[in-house]
Amino acid sequence: MKRDQCLFLSFVVILAVSGAKVTAAGLLPPESTPLIRHYYKVHNTCSNVEPFIRHQMKLIFDKDKTITPKLIKLLYADCMVNGCDASILLDGENTEKKSPKNRGLGAYVVIDVLKKVVEARCPGAVSCADIMNIAARDAIFFSGGPSYPVFLGRRDGLKSEASWVDLPSPSISWETALAYFTSKGLNLQDMVTLLGGHMMGRTRCSNIVDRLYNFNNTGKPDPTMELATLSYLQKLCPKKVKLGQPNPLINLNPQNPTHKFTNSYYSRVLSNKSVLEVDQQMRYGGDTYELTDEFANSLEDFRGGFAYSMSRMGGLKVLTGTKGQIRRNCHVVNK
Ligand SMILES: *[C@@H]1O[C@H](CO)[C@@H](O)[C@H](O)[C@H]1NC(C)=O
Ligand SMILES: *[C@@H]1O[C@H](CO)[C@@H](O)[C@H](O)[C@H]1NC(C)=O
Repeated sequence: MKRDQCLFLSFVVILAVSGAKVTAAGLLPPESTPLIRHYYKVHNTCSNVEPFIRHQMKLIFDKDKTITPKLIKLLYADCMVNGCDASILLDGENTEKKSPKNRGLGAYVVIDVLKKVVEARCPGAVSCADIMNIAARDAIFFSGGPSYPVFLGRRDGLKSEASWVDLPSPSISWETALAYFTSKGLNLQDMVTLLGGHMMGRTRCSNIVDRLYNFNNTGKPDPTMELATLSYLQKLCPKKVKLGQPNPLINLNPQNPTHKFTNSYYSRVLSNKSVLEVDQQMRYGGDTYELTDEFANSLEDFRGGFAYSMSRMGGLKVLTGTKGQIRRNCHVVNK
């Protein structure tokens, strides 16, 4: 319990003490040092961008609760691959968006709506990368999660390539997952916390059929899966017997069909009820177990931890100043 509280408290204290001009130094990986709170107010380029986006996000959220997991996933797919530069939004043949690993990502339309609203009020002022971060924060808040300060000042990237996409499969061990997170500048706490994004949202049966029927090529289900969960998931995801068989969407957290912010995901990991293998794996590592147990027992710790790690992820390899641009249309680089 202590480590996380400590980290989160220092997050809050730094913000409280230094007020609006606090920089992200010390909280985020080093590349992101120039990000600041209320960037558009400080530079007087779009002082009310945060209220504009929050208002729109409320309207969008009221119509579609799945927008929260979609925005978290979109931000993850952007930030983990070549940094938070909105390169995931660029159109084109050989782009990150077109990578098979990013198939099924949603929320693009929502970013378009937000960008349009922001452009109408502050033309050419606010980056797509910042809009994505503000939107994800607001959606998390509307789902019952924490409302954390979002650091701003990102510029948008000039390129996007499918070959950059190295997102890991959902059936890896926690050691492999940790090596991936570490390679990006995040740590074990960030990994356990951000995997908590699987508290809501959906996935395709194809991501779990191996676990259900042929785990590790044994011809049997994953022996670590609790039996009632196994038969429940087998009903939703029948064994693949023919080509073109449907590949249904299932809830990542069967206990949370309305996509609320919850720590029940962690209790499910502890009781062997995880849907994805990478989630279940967290029960078996010393440090991953400890934090999973902490979050399962304290929603408050999870809320604090999630705010903190989302901020850290939002600061990965950001472009600032002249290193990037403020795209007028999130789909294409400015001419
Ligand atoms: C999968 O199988 C390989 C070899 O058959 C074995 O070494 C490995 O430990 C197995 N992995 C799991 C998670 O059971
Ligand atoms: C989960 O599985 C582990 C071993 O795989 C077992 O020791 C533990 O008792 C299980 N927990 C529950 C709540 O079923």
